Amino acid sequence: MKICIIGAGRLGSTLAYTLILKDIVREVVMIDSRENLAKGEMLDISHGTSLSGYTRVKTGDYNSVKDAGIIVITAGIPRNPGESRLDLNKKNVQILKDIVKDIVKYNKNCILFVVSNPVDIMTYVAYKTSGFERKRVFGMGTMLDTTRLRSAIGSYFDLNPQDVDIMFLGEHGDSMTPIFSLASINSIPFKDIPGYNKEKLEEIAEHSRTCAAEVISLKGGTVFAPAIAMAEIIESMVKDKRQIMPLSVYLEDYYGINGIYTGVPAILSKDGIEKIIKLPLNEKEIEGLRKSAGVIQNAVNDLKEEGFIE
Ligand code: LAC
Repeated sequence: MKICIIGAGRLGSTLAYTLILKDIVREVVMIDSRENLAKGEMLDISHGTSLSGYTRVKTGDYNSVKDAGIIVITAGIPRNPGESRLDLNKKNVQILKDIVKDIVKYNKNCILFVVSNPVDIMTYVAYKTSGFERKRVFGMGTMLDTTRLRSAIGSYFDLNPQDVDIMFLGEHGDSMTPIFSLASINSIPFKDIPGYNKEKLEEIAEHSRTCAAEVISLKGGTVFAPAIAMAEIIESMVKDKRQIMPLSVYLEDYYGINGIYTGVPAILSKDGIEKIIKLPLNEKEIEGLRKSAGVIQNAVNDLKEEGFIE
């Protein structure tokens, strides 16, 4: 399997590095118009491959996407301190459209995995621009936010974060909503875990929702947690694990949400999104999810009205 990463900035190159350490694919190719940057990152990573395993890392141009199974799009202008993900909307739409057009010229059979922000909107743009079937175009959705939340709740209870089962749904952005009604640790509801404190857990969810902004203000961008989450998604596809992950997928009649990409749980296979799972949410959660989807819908409508997308 060959993976192409569009964008060799901090996020793209850290993903390449993480994939090298996982050693699960034959080839990782970084593509970036900043050729020296891409080459420098590639060389630095490739110098370690005699110890890391069989994965090779390369740089290339769009011609090299032609036999890639999965193409990850990380390119775009990243958030500055104080900016929301939605502020990037117009800046990144054109960049994304150009990238997808270039990909499709060389490869019409790949899976497009979008990470560029605002991810739910960029994934919609990638879907419309590519003309691909829905199952082959998805975004990171709330997978990263869910990862952060699980890590934080694991630390709070001092229990293995991998056993924590809870998701954020909705926009990968300020409006996403945590789903506490279905949460557990190894099937044990949170309320039965020693140390349970509802307010404290809500505070943790609130912090997990906004903590990327803290990292951006401290070090200029988030890199490691996103790369770990992206590599997990790629590994799941490469190994055809059929895991359920909260990804940005095209919704049709999901609690009344229609025709936009939004983060909800979906079964992921080697071929992409196999099935979207409708969760039995409570009223408050349905309202939270609808409100969050409304934010995405408004942003998509604005782009349509201004002629950025069809
Ligand atoms: C974050 C960026 C990738 O949440 O949106 O870290």
